Amino acid sequence: MPDSLLTNIPGTRDILPEEISSWHLAEEFARKVFACYGFQEIRPPLMEATDLFARGIGGETDIVGKEMYTFLDQSGKSVSLRPEATASVVRAYIQHSMNRTAGITRLYYIGPMFRHEKKQKGRWRQFYQIGAEALGSDHPAVEAEVIEMMLFFLDSLEVKSRLLINSVGDGNCRPRYVAKLRGELNRRQAELCEECRRRTETNPLRVLDCKVPGCQPVISELPAIADHLCEECAQHFAKVRACLQQAGIAYEIVPRLVRGLDYYVKTAFEIVSGDLGAQNALVGGGRYDGLAELLGGPRVPGFGFAMGLDRLVMVLPEHIRAKAAKPPDILLAYLGDAAFRKALELARSLRHKGFACHLEFTAGSLKSQMRLAGRIGARNVLLMGENEIAAGRYILKQMRDSSQAEVRLEDLEDCLRKQNGNS
Ligand code: HAM
Repeated sequence: MPDSLLTNIPGTRDILPEEISSWHLAEEFARKVFACYGFQEIRPPLMEATDLFARGIGGETDIVGKEMYTFLDQSGKSVSLRPEATASVVRAYIQHSMNRTAGITRLYYIGPMFRHEKKQKGRWRQFYQIGAEALGSDHPAVEAEVIEMMLFFLDSLEVKSRLLINSVGDGNCRPRYVAKLRGELNRRQAELCEECRRRTETNPLRVLDCKVPGCQPVISELPAIADHLCEECAQHFAKVRACLQQAGIAYEIVPRLVRGLDYYVKTAFEIVSGDLGAQNALVGGGRYDGLAELLGGPRVPGFGFAMGLDRLVMVLPEHIRAKAAKPPDILLAYLGDAAFRKALELARSLRHKGFACHLEFTAGSLKSQMRLAGRIGARNVLLMGENEIAAGRYILKQMRDSSQAEVRLEDLEDCLRKQNGNS
């Protein structure tokens, strides 16, 4: 049966008006907090040359190998919808010569990413990330500052989480470790799942991330990269930990933490939330000092993270969601043609002064308008009948406690403003 034209593509979804206030709140908080740390927004395009991701993220990763939405455009060029934005940000940084400015360049982005992943709770094929990248410094304090910013953001939304960190080494020490890992995995092929047997050759580090229960006994006995770091990586990791401690940031070292993107060197981290279920990673990030060179640019050390916005919204506490909701300030309930005309005029005037005002064009009885006010969560209802218009006095009903007061239209704005001030 052909897919219905009236159903969205699997793995995508509509974010509906009743959910959107939580998204706005998270985005607003991110913009505020990130600005305090000197981050500026960048909006790279949603599509890029496929090679940017293939080279940047790594041809052997699941993201590039299996999950990208790739197509030839009209000119025959291979283009991909972005599965992540770090490669794009680094490309933009080099293309626009941002490295000419002295010091660190701090950039953030908010927007959709695309990965054709297996469907699962908390996993979409179009999902949203809030990400930040600090470019131009390999100082370990960068890690602490960026992580502190992100945790401050999560704290301000009262989201509980745990910070897991590791060092994944660099081009100097990792090849030796990977060779050792591959040797060990080759010895124990019979105990591994098919995917891990394949990864033994293509990308042995990813075996550490396998979730298949049968592989866990082997994984728990594999050598840890933390024990194979070169002097420089070990020192960098020690300094990062010291900076985190100095900033009062609690962390757990997870020696088998690896990430699904190949550009990481040295620090890698994740933030997990117990409220998310199997897909518990809320944030992933790390250092990628070699990425710019890999793309054909100069050496640009970088560190950053991306947070799954869909997942963040899932774990927002109920009272924070409630705070985010922006119900109409007032519903104008009217009876009769003259009242309708008056209500239209009043609605225009209130809206132009910044109040969210609702009125129906075919309104029905006052009772049904009151019911509607309840359904849409209007904070007040103004009752407007022929008598009220004649007397110039109206009943203003506060929906929260059903209290009511008589008001003149000249005083209405003040009343609403006071309420907004009090809430
Ligand atoms: P990532 O770990 O692939 O890293 O993704 C970061 C976060 O995006 C994840 O922790 C998760 O919350 C969310 N996410 C990923 N895939 C999905 C999905 N299919 N559905 C819902 N949410 C998802 C990166 O993307 C790197 N670019 C992060 C980074 C920035 N590293 C350095 N700078």
